[in-house]
Formats: sequence, structure tokens, C-alpha cells
Amino acid sequence: MSSKLFAPIKLRELELANRVVVAPMCQYSAENGNMTDWHMLHLGSLSNSGAGLLIVEATGVEPEGRISLGCPSLANDENEAAMKRVVTACKRYGTAKIGIQLGHAGRKASCTRPWEGKSASEPLKSDTGAWPTKGPSAIPFAADWHVPSAYTIPEIETLKAKFVDATKRADRIGYDLIEIHGAHGYLLHEFVSPLSNKRTDQYGGSLENRIRLPLEIFAAMRAVWPKHKPLGIRISAVDWVEGGLTIEDSVFFAQKLKDAGCDFIDVSSGGNDPHQKIALRPGYQVPFAEAIKKATGMTTMAVGLITEAEQAEAIVADGHADMVALARGFLDDPHWAWHAAWKLGADVPVSVQYARATLKTWPPAKRYTEMPKAAE
Ligand SMILES: Cc1cc2nc3c(=O)[nH]c(=O)nc-3n(C[C@H](O)[C@H](O)[C@H](O)COP(=O)(O)O)c2cc1C
Repeated sequence: MSSKLFAPIKLRELELANRVVVAPMCQYSAENGNMTDWHMLHLGSLSNSGAGLLIVEATGVEPEGRISLGCPSLANDENEAAMKRVVTACKRYGTAKIGIQLGHAGRKASCTRPWEGKSASEPLKSDTGAWPTKGPSAIPFAADWHVPSAYTIPEIETLKAKFVDATKRADRIGYDLIEIHGAHGYLLHEFVSPLSNKRTDQYGGSLENRIRLPLEIFAAMRAVWPKHKPLGIRISAVDWVEGGLTIEDSVFFAQKLKDAGCDFIDVSSGGNDPHQKIALRPGYQVPFAEAIKKATGMTTMAVGLITEAEQAEAIVADGHADMVALARGFLDDPHWAWHAAWKLGADVPVSVQYARATLKTWPPAKRYTEMPKAAE
């Protein structure tokens, strides 16, 4: 059998060795928005996981757009230098292409690291470093959360400029791809969802108005991001709440993104309302990716409770999605893609330093990476 999961895919000029993606994962281990040695260990390991693409965690386009004090930002030269150190090492020694998730946490910014909250992240207090948050409307995520101030039009213009600045920095760092964070109840999702956006100007009301900001940001970023590099977005396809976003809304949004030149949609869901009722089961978000792919022809990435090689293979082989992203699966097994390839009888990129592992555990992989090059 020739694996479809391990078949290469091209996004613009970027060639991925396979369709396995390491999903973005916050590490809450940055200092002053700067990546640390933890990121070197974590991303260094996952850049050698066999996945075709590794997407770096949610990164704020401004310090106030970070989820927590431990999240990275890409807003100044210090942030850029700290990130470049890590990404250069991953590109030099790793086998995966590397992308970054750029976003803004909106009304869900200014939170604790998850292990500092009672059961999960919770809003910071003034004595633990809270900062003022902003959102589409002055509506908190939940009763005991920060009440954001509603973006003014001049503030929206400044925000767009920050996305553009971070995009230029991402290019200088050497990222191969950008994924805009438009999911999980963070700022851009807050604008798109009728649950959090009650504006009466051109950025609120109708679906066309609610998707205006992410589309404007997409266009502004696309204008400065090199033509050969892919730019995509992660969305929450549904809110899992009555009166919230539906898959029909997301298909409409996806079509507009496609028209704007979006290269892929990473299809997640939820995160914008504590009352959400998610029907959790293996691959529970795959039908959303499939619906978007079928209706628009967009290149899609499926994510969420995908853990097994055969399951991932079927998602791609049966045409439900073009790529499959895993988060927790890669924390559990940083060589998940090696092991999936072995099960599926496929070829997978292995760094030369680890080549002997392949001799020991399965027929040698044919595709070794090139010998390390001088850092760019
Ligand atoms: C530790 C951790 C951190 C995460 N951080 C992010 C993030 O930075 N951006 C994002 O869009 N999703 C984030 N997620 C969600 C994952 O990318 C993924 O969508 C989710 O975990 C479902 O996939 P899984 O079942 O393979 O874990 C995170 C998940 C985990 C477990």
C-alpha cells in the first residue's frame, strides 16, 4: 500500500515531505515574550519527529496579545532574536519545515499559565501581572473574566500594522509558513463569532462584517509575506453553542479566504464560550474540515483526537482532509510520525544523526535529510 498520509504536499513553493503536522502548542515558557532554552529542547525534538510541518505555538503580535506572561510575542527585536536562535537550530538540524501561529488573545489574554490556575488557565489579577484586555465588544469570556474594552477604529488600524510587522519578522527569522490564529476564542474568532461580537460598525452585525477584520489582516499580511511562502489560518468552525458560529458560516468564511489567496485552513472548533457542548470522539472535528474542503475546494488540515496511524491515513486517503495535525499525540510520542510511517509501510524523513534507529526498529528509511548546512 502506498500511504497517502506520507505522500508529499506542496503549498505554494513549500514542499512538505508528508501530510503529518505538529499542531501549535503553547508552552508557557517564554520570558518577557522571548523564547527560552525550553523552546530549543521542545521544538528541537519535534522538528525531528518525522512530521512534514511543525507549527510553533500561538505567538502574540504584541505583548498585550499574549495569552499568558509565559507566551511568546513577536513584536520587537529581542523577541525576534530569541526566536531566530531556536528556529535557526530547528531548520539546521531538524527534518520538518517550520511555521508559526501568529495571533492575538483578545479578551482571553492576561491569563495564568495552566498550572498556575485552579484547574486550568484563569484570569490574572492585578497583583499577579494582569493587563487590560481588548475585544470586539466589552463582553467578558465568562462572568469572572476580564471585561475587555472594545476596539476603536484607530486601534484596529494599529492592530493590523502589528500583524504586518510580526509577519516581516517571521520572514526574517526564516519561517516557511504562517498560520493566523483565528480559533479558540481568541481575538479574530471573537470578531467572527456573533456570541462575542456585538458591534454596530462595519466590523459587526452581518457575517460579512464579522469576517472583515480577519480578511483585512489576511490581505495585509499576504502583501508583505513572500509570494512563495504559504499563509493559512486556523479557525473554529463551530462554537458548539446555540446562536453561535455554524459550519455554514465557516464555509462562507473559507470561500472568502480562498478568494483572498489563503493556502490552507486548519479546522478546529470551540473555545469562545464556556457553555459550549462539544461532542467529543476520535476525529470529532474531521467532518468540519471535510465540509469546508467539499464546499470550497480549500486545502484543509484536520485536527483533534487523531491519535492512530490508520485513523490519520484514512482521513487523508478518503479525502476528508489534505493534512492531519496532532498536538497531544506528539507530546506523548515525539517520534509519532516515524512510528506511523512504520505501521503504514511508508518512508519518512530521519535526520542523519538518528539513522541507526531506523536500522534497529524498521527497514531503513530511504529519505535522509541533507547533511547540516551552515546556519542561514
Ligand atoms: C499543550 C497544548 C497547547 C496548545 N496550544 C495551542 C496553541 O498555541 N494554538 C492553538 O491553536 N491550539 C493549541 N492547542 C490545541 C492543539 O493545537 C490541538 O488543536 C488540540 O490539542 C487538539 O488536538 P489533539 O487531540 O491532537 O491534542 C494546544 C493544545 C495543547 C495540548
